[in-house]
Amino acid sequence: MANPRLRLLLPWRKFSKRDWAIAAFGFTIFFFALSFTSTKTIAPLDLVDLTLVRHAKDKGAVCLDGSAPGYHFRSGFGSGSNNWVLHIEGGGWCNTVASCLIRKTTALGSSNYMERQVRFSGILSHDSSQNPDFFDWNKVKLRYCDGASFAGNSQKNETQLFFRGQRIWEAVMDELLSIGLSNAKQVLLSGCSAGGLATLIHCDDFRGILPKDATVKCLADAGFFLDEKDVTGNRRIRSFYSDVVHLQGVANSLDKDCVGRMEPSQCFFPQEFIKNIKTPVFLVNPAYDFWQIQYVLIPAESDPSGKWAKCRLSIQKCSPAQIEILHGFRNSMLKTLSEFQQNKDGGMFINSCFSHCQTLMTETWHSPYSPRINNKTIAESVGDWYFNRKLVKQIDCPYPCNPTCSNMDFTWHR
Ligand SMILES: *[C@@H]1O[C@H](CO)[C@@H](O)[C@H](O)[C@H]1NC(C)=O
Ligand SMILES: *[C@@H]1O[C@H](CO)[C@@H](O)[C@H](O)[C@H]1NC(C)=O
Repeated sequence: MANPRLRLLLPWRKFSKRDWAIAAFGFTIFFFALSFTSTKTIAPLDLVDLTLVRHAKDKGAVCLDGSAPGYHFRSGFGSGSNNWVLHIEGGGWCNTVASCLIRKTTALGSSNYMERQVRFSGILSHDSSQNPDFFDWNKVKLRYCDGASFAGNSQKNETQLFFRGQRIWEAVMDELLSIGLSNAKQVLLSGCSAGGLATLIHCDDFRGILPKDATVKCLADAGFFLDEKDVTGNRRIRSFYSDVVHLQGVANSLDKDCVGRMEPSQCFFPQEFIKNIKTPVFLVNPAYDFWQIQYVLIPAESDPSGKWAKCRLSIQKCSPAQIEILHGFRNSMLKTLSEFQQNKDGGMFINSCFSHCQTLMTETWHSPYSPRINNKTIAESVGDWYFNRKLVKQIDCPYPCNPTCSNMDFTWHR
């Protein structure tokens, strides 16, 4: 069943022709626009102001361009007053001085360009019909402006670029603790895409700054980026991550055990450190994650003949042979997750939709159009896991078996 609202994708399509890093953040701009548009009809008044972090510059906690980072906060109410959901915004990464210089002229690199208000929906909705378990909790959306999943710490003086993701993380946490997070009873740290990766990177240190008796768990949405070869056999995502980690000085923020065992940039891949995370983790990830298909498995540069041109943008347009290769990607993901699947505190919702980031939009989080596995929405599955109502290890059957998917199509306006 196709959700007509998800068809509003067109404006973003042009980004996929540009280079990797640009496309990576173009994606989020688009996604942001989509969530903005799609929630308008549901909750027209649900706007939340941007707050810039106080004393950020004194702490060197600044966006790529040196501006103060920001977040959006809305108070909880009723029985949710002492509970918190944090959501870390996504938006790819920048891996070169050139791509970071472009990024610093956008909302993903500078608070000067951030919207002053955003709509809260999906996991950030305050409507119990859209967000049954977390609607009355305090809500925070962390804006992403460092380009390295809140984990860099260096500076390029000659180019006036600041790589301060780690310091931004710490400064935002200090400020949230001071406005009530330090009294939290139940907390869920979440994030999508590059923000899902940030969620995994910071999950245990986040747990460490909160009260010992609080319940703290982490939800990574579309943040499980696989260390896979592309269709031509190149390790493109691996070299891209290596560039990001080296350019931005990320190694000190990564899992110590992992960094001790291998090349630090490998530890940017969740598969290398997820088993070391002590805090309970839930993974929401489509096995046919369109971002990973477009940038990890079939980057445009790896398809000079254009035989993947349609398939990489729309799973419905793949040939049977191409579908086999996409199934191979799913198999790699499931194999990589097999150890995590045994983790008794962990949860997962690995559906077979052609999508990416499913917790922030009400349409995919919890609605009559939502993707389901065993008749449960993502919101219901995450709630069952968070509150220990049941074990949640939801793994969908292979594409195209699930009729509840709204598979994205980035080709149809061409
Ligand atoms: C950049 O400038 C700052 C302040 O002048 C200095 O502390 C820092 O060491 C410089 N960093 C590099 C990489 O040159
Ligand atoms: C699926 O769940 C809904 C409630 O969310 C329920 O009304 C419906 O009967 C269920 N369908 C099946 C086939 O179990």
